[in-house]
Amino acid sequence: MAARGERFIVAAVRLLMPRRHDARIGRQAARYWSASDGDQSWDSNSHWRHGIGDEAFAEVGRDHLEIYQRFARALEVDTPTTIIEWGAGGGANAVAFAPHVERFISADISPDNLAECFRQVQAVCNTPVDTLLIDLADPNAAADGLRHACDLFLCLYVIELTTGVDAVRTILRIAQRVLRPGGMAFVQVKYHTSDGRTRGRIGWAYARNLALNTTFTIEEFWRLAGECGLEPQLVTLVPRNRLDSRYAYYALTKPVSGMEPQ
Ligand SMILES: C[S@@+](CC[C@H](N)C(=O)[O-])C[C@H]1O[C@@H](n2cnc3c(N)ncnc32)[C@H](O)[C@@H]1O
Repeated sequence: MAARGERFIVAAVRLLMPRRHDARIGRQAARYWSASDGDQSWDSNSHWRHGIGDEAFAEVGRDHLEIYQRFARALEVDTPTTIIEWGAGGGANAVAFAPHVERFISADISPDNLAECFRQVQAVCNTPVDTLLIDLADPNAAADGLRHACDLFLCLYVIELTTGVDAVRTILRIAQRVLRPGGMAFVQVKYHTSDGRTRGRIGWAYARNLALNTTFTIEEFWRLAGECGLEPQLVTLVPRNRLDSRYAYYALTKPVSGMEPQ
């Protein structure tokens, strides 16, 4: 009953005062990710090597590289030279992708994660790593000066942690901007089904819902990507892995020519 009451109040505030609600959740998210405080669950939620363990850490990067390569072969895209990862966390993807490119740009809202990702990549290869600190209140600023600079935009295990569709739209538009024409965004979302319990639940408490804040149906995200100027090309589902369930991976390409989205 208490949960139902809370849901009702949250829904009312979201409806009547959307800006106030979004600002509140945004502050909670920024606070949660700002520093680890040596908290083991934070390290695990950020996918640090010691947080999720060596095996899972290696698996995250290996599985993502494998899905990306499958997409890249099917779409016959050029081998990337510059990759940006939005929400790089502890570097599980970075250590798998960076050895194959000339430049790796790691972007995150947490300085601790940026430092850890940098350390992890340095331990496996000589690829130069640039770090970009994202301000959740103004994510676009982090991508200033990067227009058309990247061949591949990675955003993995991040969308479900965002504070709603507007935040996701912002990320996709940033991807559209930093990619060169023909470049690919390789993005994972957590999908929901007809079962209401699988839906994202942006509520009062960001940290309580964490990886179940923002979800989409497969088609909703496909359409959203298109609205943001990226062409959805392929999707593959991972209904369950060792970390969680209902992951959808999309290959989105930036059109070679055409209008820039508004
Ligand atoms: C679960 S970790 C994933 C790390 C990495 N991408 C991986 O697949 O292992 C989530 C990361 O996203 C970052 N993050 C959370 N919200 C974000 C947002 N709105 N924009 C960019 N990064 C975000 C967190 O700081 C954290 O490093």
